[in-house]
Amino acid sequence: MKFQFLSAVLLLFVFSACAPESTTQEDVKLDQTEYDYSINVPNSAKNELANYYSNSVGNTNPDVTNAGAALGRVLFYDTKLSINNEVSCGTCHHQDLAFADGKNLTEGFNGQLTVRNSKAITNPYFANNLFWDGRASDAMNLTLQPVSNHIEMGMEDMDFLAKKLSKTNYYTDLFKKAYNSSDITSEKISDAMAQFLCSMTTFESKYDEGIKSNFSNFTALELKGKRLFEGSKYFCQGCHSGITFDAENQFSYYGGSQNGATNIGLPLTRDKGINDEGRFRIPSLRNVEKTAPYMHDGRFATLDQVIDHYSKGIEMQEMLDPRFKNGNQAKKFNISDDEKVALVAFLKTLTDEKYLTNPKYSNPFL
Ligand code: HEC
Ligand code: HEC
Repeated sequence: MKFQFLSAVLLLFVFSACAPESTTQEDVKLDQTEYDYSINVPNSAKNELANYYSNSVGNTNPDVTNAGAALGRVLFYDTKLSINNEVSCGTCHHQDLAFADGKNLTEGFNGQLTVRNSKAITNPYFANNLFWDGRASDAMNLTLQPVSNHIEMGMEDMDFLAKKLSKTNYYTDLFKKAYNSSDITSEKISDAMAQFLCSMTTFESKYDEGIKSNFSNFTALELKGKRLFEGSKYFCQGCHSGITFDAENQFSYYGGSQNGATNIGLPLTRDKGINDEGRFRIPSLRNVEKTAPYMHDGRFATLDQVIDHYSKGIEMQEMLDPRFKNGNQAKKFNISDDEKVALVAFLKTLTDEKYLTNPKYSNPFL
């Protein structure tokens, strides 16, 4: 069940012996600028983030080096990682959209649709429940899933990929710089891609600036939205919590939310989430202005529609989060239009323009 997505989408990583051995990008030009990929977090959040990180049980994230992450960046954008040389990670994860892709569901290499909405990539180094159902415990674990889990042939295909990449002119050097040896192996491919993912931090929004000045940079409307977001009336922050605006620090929360995932009373469709209980991961709201459409299946086109759901759309379900229950009824929060406008204004302060434009995360194939 939970690998439906993988089999549907990540078939692109099938490298069968009859795959076209096209290495025609021999004259490809790469952005070879040396960027600093060290994991960059604001001082104000250091303690909180260190705490999340040490709580990530069994975390296998690699150490990030500049050369390793630079190699990971090339792999992330290289269509050679797909069987027909047409799809890369970057095809479904666009930097200007905070690495979401603006679609409800997304086409894989042969036009088949993914089961879920492409997820924005938001501080994965600090997450221990990646994907909409939280099934990957860290970035390293995640890259291994796309790369090896999609088919029965496992490592044989990965060896094929390693061989395929060895035939390009640019990888020998990049692997040598990152690992002191130009041998290409599946482990190194995963490791480098995980390093790139770990380096992707987004903590430079208007909100982050505001922390330094007691939010004197906020408009009255944004401040009102912030109060509503944090206040006990709707308590958005109870779930979208902490400096990451997801659920990392409420792992043992009572009742409804387990492992940072919960049921918010969305009418259920074919995809019923974790254990078919309508539970999905509590997503980070950083850059949420850019990551439409919303929810695991992209059912809402706008933030207004998301707030309308919380306002009057929550449906009673057995596994509905207890915070949304009122006895046997689902709560209706009846968020007023003024409050809605303020909440949306606040959510937009979480946009980090630097993250959306930083060349170190951009497509290196010029
Ligand atoms: C065909 C489109 C497609 C391609 C290609 C693709 N992804 Fe994704 N990605 C998705 C979808 C859809 C999801 C959400 C799936 C889910 O949660 O079950 C996702 C989720 C993710 C997440 C989880 C983010 C989070 O916070 O939970 C990361 C990280 C990620 N992808 C990285 C990658 C990397 C690295 C590659 C290349 C090896 C890749 N993706 C290739 C569509 C794609
Ligand atoms: C009980 C926990 C909980 C509370 C409280 C909560 N949310 Fe959510 N929120 C979630 C979950 C879980 C999802 C993802 C559901 C899904 O995809 O099926 C979500 C999704 C969202 C999304 C869509 C994000 C995306 O990337 O698709 C936005 C925006 C959002 N919430 C804003 C809010 C606001 C504003 C409030 C307060 C009015 C709020 N949330 C209160 C748990 C919560």
